[in-house]
Amino acid sequence: MDAKQIRADFIKFFQDKDHRFIRSSPVVPVDDPTLLFTNAGMNQFKPIFMGTNKPEYSRAVNTQKCIRVSGKHNDLEEVGVDTFHHTFFEMLGNWSFGDYYKAEAIQWAWELFTDVWGLDKNRLWATVYHEDDEAFDLWPKVTGIDPARVLKCDKKDNFWEMGETGPCGPCSEIHYYIGDDPSKQTADGVNVSDQYWELWNLVFIQNNRLEDGSLEELPEKHVDTGAGLERIVTVLQGKTSNYESDLFSTIISKTEELTGKSYIDNAAPFQVIADHIRMLSFSIADGALPSNDGRGYVLRRIDRKSGSAG
Ligand code: SER
Repeated sequence: MDAKQIRADFIKFFQDKDHRFIRSSPVVPVDDPTLLFTNAGMNQFKPIFMGTNKPEYSRAVNTQKCIRVSGKHNDLEEVGVDTFHHTFFEMLGNWSFGDYYKAEAIQWAWELFTDVWGLDKNRLWATVYHEDDEAFDLWPKVTGIDPARVLKCDKKDNFWEMGETGPCGPCSEIHYYIGDDPSKQTADGVNVSDQYWELWNLVFIQNNRLEDGSLEELPEKHVDTGAGLERIVTVLQGKTSNYESDLFSTIISKTEELTGKSYIDNAAPFQVIADHIRMLSFSIADGALPSNDGRGYVLRRIDRKSGSAG
């Protein structure tokens, strides 16, 4: 199954459940001074969560171009070190705006992973925010998952926030064991070992973080989910590195052709170049240009880093 098919499957799955397809917003945020780059699928829906914009639809699905190189979400240092974090990636997501909540979000994520895509249930783990007993109880109830595979985690891993301020809430993540030997899985590895990949984050948006650090309740409760396309494609293609999936293979082979070097012998610099080229291409296509400050300076640094990687 190629990446195009996997992306299309995701969108169709939720369209069949009455979700409206919404195009990705640009990676340069349209009207949000709190962000240098779009860092999540939910950014364009922030006014809806805040109650300042009422949409004509209450369910949405999309695939969002995201960049995580600044602010609260920054994965730059992982690139070239591991095989599954990127400065630029695509986030598949489904949304409920004051419509369905935890039960459906959990049930549908499980259905897509296990029934539609056939992921092995014995490699999947779910985490919930340690105070969220409702999600903890729902997991085995609506999915049949082995309760030993549902873990309570703290705020660092299971309370999602887009930035210093803004909509946020407890979340539930789905992790997948990519190791060779499933009998070696332990709960302790989740969120710790790079053999366990977070594939999907289901956020139950119910709060707004204010500038003084306090939380206020939002007028309604919403669902914001984000699943990393690159990781899902890699897992479904039976690989253990995103760079071996069809999303990256063209860039990797073109780099081999241009440099006359092989990926196998030069994995880290090839990965940095492949990652950074995507980030730069999408940023420039969406209107950002390298410069001496702010967003443009981030682009300049990424450009220099990819140059020195080679
Ligand atoms: N906003 C959440 C995230 O970015 C889920 O979409 O992980």
